[in-house]
Order: sequence, then structure tokens, then C-alpha cells
Amino acid sequence: MDKFVKNFIGVSILYLILSSVIGILMLAYPQLTTLKFVHSHLNMLGWVSMMIYGVGYHILPRFVGKKLKSNRLGEIQFWLANIGLVGMLGAYSIGQYNTDPLYKTLTVFFGVVEAVSIAFFFYNMIATLFAEDAA
Ligand code: HEM
Repeated sequence: MDKFVKNFIGVSILYLILSSVIGILMLAYPQLTTLKFVHSHLNMLGWVSMMIYGVGYHILPRFVGKKLKSNRLGEIQFWLANIGLVGMLGAYSIGQYNTDPLYKTLTVFFGVVEAVSIAFFFYNMIATLFAEDAA
């Protein structure tokens, strides 16, 4: 299994642990539901998506008997997905307690980084699954 694939699975489990702690804190302290966006996106973009990226990179090319189009792009996607997620949720969380518009701008910026990482995954998978068979 490629290292970046293992890394995707490792961080997805870390995000699940973190989001569960935030979920429990929201149950105990309802005023913390201002962090519902953080909890839900740690779950959906962290736990669920990163697990799907890891399992998808490993299994989908094998389903069609092909090599992944680009491991390098997969590694870059790993970093963009994590920087985008942590940056977006970090800036959003600070923005809940600090009205400086900088944090809104950073939240949007890191959201775009996350979207670019999603586009890289999409391209790598489509280019792998629909590649012409070698003659
Ligand atoms: C220990 C585990 C978990 C706890 C204690 C927990 C707790 C919570 C709490 C307290 C809320 C806010 C509810 C409200 O007042 O509106 C919430 C929202 C949410 N949770 Fe969790 N959660 C857990 C795991 C998960 C998982 C595994 C997922 C998805 C894979 C998830 C997805 C969501 C989503 C999408 C929302 C937003 C729902 C909405 O906006 O209506 N949670 N969770």
C-alpha cells in the first residue's frame, strides 16, 4: 500500500476521534454548538472523505486492472486536502470569537484549497478508470 494511501486512512481516524470529542463537548456545553460547522466538516471532509480517498486510491485502479494515473498527484492531494480542512476549520473557529474580517477571508481561501484537492482526486480517478488500454 502506498504511503500517502496509508496516511489518508491514518488522518481520517484522527479526524473521527477529534470530531467525536467536539460532538461530546457540544452535548455537554450547548453554547459550543457554534462549532457545529467544525464538527460536521471534520466528519464529512475529514473522517468520511479521507477514508474514501485512501480506500479509493488503493482499490479502484485494481478493480479495472490499471495503475493509478499519478501517485505524485495523490500525494499533493493528500497535503491540499489536509491543509484546506485544518485551515478552513481553524480560521472559522477563530472567526466565531474574533470579528476581524481576515478570518472570513482565510476560511474562504482554505475552502478553495479544499475544493482544488477534491478536483485533483476527481481528475486522477477519472484519468485512471477511463484510460485507454495499452495496445
Ligand atoms: C461521538 C460521536 C458524535 C457525537 C457525540 C455527535 C454530536 C453531535 C451534536 C451534539 C451535534 C449538534 C446537534 C445540534 O444541536 O444541532 C452534531 C451535529 C452533526 N453531526 Fe455529529 N456527533 C457524533 C458523530 C458524528 C459522525 C460520525 C458524523 C458523520 C459522519 C456526524 C455528523 C454530524 C453532522 C452532519 C451534524 C450537523 C447536523 C445539522 O446541522 O443539522 N456526527 N453532532
